[in-house]
Amino acid sequence: MSPLPPRSSRLTAFFRLGVAERRRRLLELADLPADGFAAVDPGALSIEAADGMIENVLGTYALPFAVAVNFIVDDIETLIPMAIEEPSVVAASSNAARMARPRGFVTEVSAPVMIGQIQVVHVADVDDGAARLVAASEELLAEARRLVPRLAERGGGPVGFDVRTLAHSGPDGGVLVAHLHVDCRDAMGANLVNTLCEALADRVAELAGGRPGLRILSNLTDGRTVTVRCSIDDAQLASHDAEGAEVRRAIAAASRFAELDPYRACTHNKGIMNGVDAVLVATGQDWRAVEAGAHAYAARDGAYRPLAVWRERDGGLDGVLVMPLAVGTVGGALHVHPGARLALELAGARSADRLAALCGAAGIATNLAALRALATEGIQRGHMALHARGLARAAGATGDLVELVAAELAATGEVKADRAREVLARLMGEPR
Ligand code: MEV
Repeated sequence: MSPLPPRSSRLTAFFRLGVAERRRRLLELADLPADGFAAVDPGALSIEAADGMIENVLGTYALPFAVAVNFIVDDIETLIPMAIEEPSVVAASSNAARMARPRGFVTEVSAPVMIGQIQVVHVADVDDGAARLVAASEELLAEARRLVPRLAERGGGPVGFDVRTLAHSGPDGGVLVAHLHVDCRDAMGANLVNTLCEALADRVAELAGGRPGLRILSNLTDGRTVTVRCSIDDAQLASHDAEGAEVRRAIAAASRFAELDPYRACTHNKGIMNGVDAVLVATGQDWRAVEAGAHAYAARDGAYRPLAVWRERDGGLDGVLVMPLAVGTVGGALHVHPGARLALELAGARSADRLAALCGAAGIATNLAALRALATEGIQRGHMALHARGLARAAGATGDLVELVAAELAATGEVKADRAREVLARLMGEPR
């Protein structure tokens, strides 16, 4: 299956359709085979497959799977697959992506270079040991390249070697760490990098005059980053009770708050990770690795900072997000997880670079949506409207009753399960 990118991701009122109609529209749009969505039907991940993935398996665990719409990423109309339990992330990112049209999101993705760490402890003379390692770096790189010939054929492989001194003395004696930089192409690269570190560790320790310590990749993948930019005109920012220029000023002020205060920066970044993680989970990625990397990167100069910032320009707002994003379109859960494979197809993500760009676009979109809501009516109104729909469905409402029950709950401010049941019972008793 090699679907074409969707003709247009601008899908007005997509959320109002039923699931069957949404599927029908997307099958056509993304050129998927008729049974394409079987991959996200209950039971699509078999117990046998799950049992082969982790230990002590008892079952499988489902999350809602959706697409965020309206995205243009690097001039390509794109559907963004998301798997997430939190209401409003899909709606909010679709809304922000609509505001960012027609320019959309513009990305720059660095080479997919991961860092492997080889620690050496009890080094007799760290300065001397470091110098010997630096002198041997070409030899060590050549040895590393010999170990991964197929990666080199695909244009990747070990690309750099350097050494950092961590301690001259102490409980572990002199401590050095060698960094092996590996271009992992379309793999996330954890297995690859760990294998290389383990294979080189004895030689590295011998050259340094110490003993091998830990041999493992670093999740602070600051050599594998994504930059995403977008520019929103005031007209797009306006809400029903605030003018665009006012919203623009408030979003820029919210950005400055995050730049000044780590307590706010953390929540600001959580809003970014809402979008990023939803795509990572949908596409079967190691989201813990990306989370760890994102927050270490946010704190890399000693203070915890926002990953995305917003600045006013004449008549609009410019945003930029920079963050590490180690993802893969080969290997990992993709071998076995049908939903993750479908997600990549829907997104048209055929390379790790493209997938990283889409994760970043989703992240800046959810950040923009959150700041716009916070800067205007506050976050709770939108959350409550979605929560009310969820309660209406849980009470048993279907079809247009969902909207009717939700609207009444929202209007009265009583967004509660027992109220939803009462309103539904009353509406079902009324002639319609
Ligand atoms: C909630 O999931 C995310 C927000 O708190 C993000 C933010 O405050 O920017 C709304």
